[in-house]
Amino acid sequence: MLRLPKAPIRLGNVVAHRDSWGSEVWRVLEITGKKAKCRQPLNPTKYDQEVLRDFPLDELVLVVRFGEPIYPVLTPVERGGSDKPRHILINADNYHALQLLLYSHERKIDLIYIDPPYNTGARDWKYNNDYVDRSDIWRHSKWLSMMKKRLLLAKRLLKPDGVLVIAIDENEHASLKLLLSDLLRGYSLETVVVNHHPQGSGGDNVSFTHEYAIVCVPEGMHRIQGASFEGETEDWGLIKAGAGHDYSRSGRPRMFYAIHVDKKTGVAQSVGPELALKDRYPLEDTEDGLRRVYPLSSKGDEKRWRYGRTKMESLIAAGKIRASIPSFSMKVTVSRKGSRRPIYSNWVGPRYNAGAHGTSLLRDIFGDSRFPFPKSLYTTEDFLASATADKPNAIVLDFFAGSGTTLHSTLLLNAEDGGTRACILVTNNEVEEKFAVRLQTAGSYPGDASFEKHGICENVTWPRCKCVLQGHREDGSPLPGKYLSGREFKEGFQENVEYFRLDFVDPALVERGDAFEGILPILWMIAGAIGEREPRRGTTPWYLAKHSPFAVLIRETKFGEFRKALRERPDISWAFLVTDSDDNFTAMRRDLGRRYRCIQLYKSYLENFRINTVDRHAAGEDEESE
Ligand SMILES: C[S@@+](CC[C@H](N)C(=O)[O-])C[C@H]1O[C@@H](n2cnc3c(N)ncnc32)[C@H](O)[C@@H]1O
Repeated sequence: MLRLPKAPIRLGNVVAHRDSWGSEVWRVLEITGKKAKCRQPLNPTKYDQEVLRDFPLDELVLVVRFGEPIYPVLTPVERGGSDKPRHILINADNYHALQLLLYSHERKIDLIYIDPPYNTGARDWKYNNDYVDRSDIWRHSKWLSMMKKRLLLAKRLLKPDGVLVIAIDENEHASLKLLLSDLLRGYSLETVVVNHHPQGSGGDNVSFTHEYAIVCVPEGMHRIQGASFEGETEDWGLIKAGAGHDYSRSGRPRMFYAIHVDKKTGVAQSVGPELALKDRYPLEDTEDGLRRVYPLSSKGDEKRWRYGRTKMESLIAAGKIRASIPSFSMKVTVSRKGSRRPIYSNWVGPRYNAGAHGTSLLRDIFGDSRFPFPKSLYTTEDFLASATADKPNAIVLDFFAGSGTTLHSTLLLNAEDGGTRACILVTNNEVEEKFAVRLQTAGSYPGDASFEKHGICENVTWPRCKCVLQGHREDGSPLPGKYLSGREFKEGFQENVEYFRLDFVDPALVERGDAFEGILPILWMIAGAIGEREPRRGTTPWYLAKHSPFAVLIRETKFGEFRKALRERPDISWAFLVTDSDDNFTAMRRDLGRRYRCIQLYKSYLENFRINTVDRHAAGEDEESE
């Protein structure tokens, strides 16, 4: 269930009282002046249990249940930073934001990194508007149901080679892994252990220092990679290491021969003749005074070289074979250019300490403590770096963004390796429970600016994004401190963030073609969130975005002029054509040619983007509420 505090209340609507928590809802039967007569239960067949009550209209909040369509608009809130690249922060329940992202980013995301509430029992998340605590016997199934609905949508956003990383702790690790193995068939699931809290805490018997990250990669792909070995070489022992028959002279007789080595420099010069298994071999130096070296173990066992004589000769000619002096153990120098270091399953070290590089870092930014349990900036950075090592322009999504660590890490990684990764953050605007009760007691309710300004998105995520980009605190003073690389916080970053709030329009109020400005940001996102977004579309019968590669034909009768105007803008590659006629759309698309990606928009705004409708296949048959 979703509460829409700003939506007007009409006859027949399902509503909740703004003071109530949880899922207690009413149906509006009558509206007289500023009063609404409401009925409970909603089921009209149970008249014997019916309760009727009058409420002041302004104390009711519209409730939308799962499956009822809602019509989103993205309301721009503020911008931060300078030009290029553009990151997006959306203040919304992620279930709805994910549905909206399906319009703009289906199969476009390279990495989804999420850190959902861990379901510790300590009222760390809400189900049906109510905090879930330890006493709730359905605690685990509620959490799984919440996650399943979101993961089903998230999966559709991933590119075919996209990666999903989910941070989790011991409370739900096992059940999440089972859920993922069911939902993500065709992915391999591997777990990294992150030592994020070396002091240890919790646990009835053992003190936990670690949490997990489940890394989901399409099967058969190698998408998680460490830093590049570029320009580096490595020495490998030349005797093939191993115990079986295949590693001995008798198993591979042609790989047993002498290498002739200069005794002073250790550099190999040539190889001896091929030997049959029964042949005896000379051990003394050659006539030219070169040392004959054979693949013998320290105990004198006859082993074999890594390479046959022909390959060995070419490696010798390339100067890659030498011996350590005085032991005459043979080595080959191997180039690691182009290959990458492995990522290990156990991440231990000060950079993963969430206290130092999460909680304290946020305190440096804000000068106070306003968010519990942020991730270490470097844990997230390392996941980003390893999943996008060869994708410097990756699109990254975090739909449980909390304090916004993922965006901060993206900025840092881009600055360090010259990448242009773009990040989409989604987080709700939850107000901490005790504080919310205090605010409501003082007459400030969800939807009121005085209430909303204390929510996570408005009070933590967005200010953090702005401060770290601009390099100064909210009061304008430079940010104190340095990143581990030595870069100063106060340098900020040459990137940009757009902050949107996902609002819901009342379908009854939207006339044909109205609310177009509300969907302009959605079109801007579909066209890649590139360039500065203008706040308004102007009054012409078409719209050419000034700084982004998209155009909208608003009045189809003006198609000829629109096409002419497009010629002046070779940078435009997306054309949104408003028409209710499929035939006209096809004709206009054909006329524009393949150079444009054309998308039909219906004149009725309502038909373009609608979310929360039941997609039973995607959402799971059993999902009726939340
Ligand atoms: C564990 S925190 C993420 C912390 C984050 N990784 C960081 O370093 O700051 C999870 C966040 O998800 C947000 N959240 C929980 N349920 C949500 C929902 N349904 N939609 C959007 N955000 C949600 C909460 O507000 C919370 O801040």
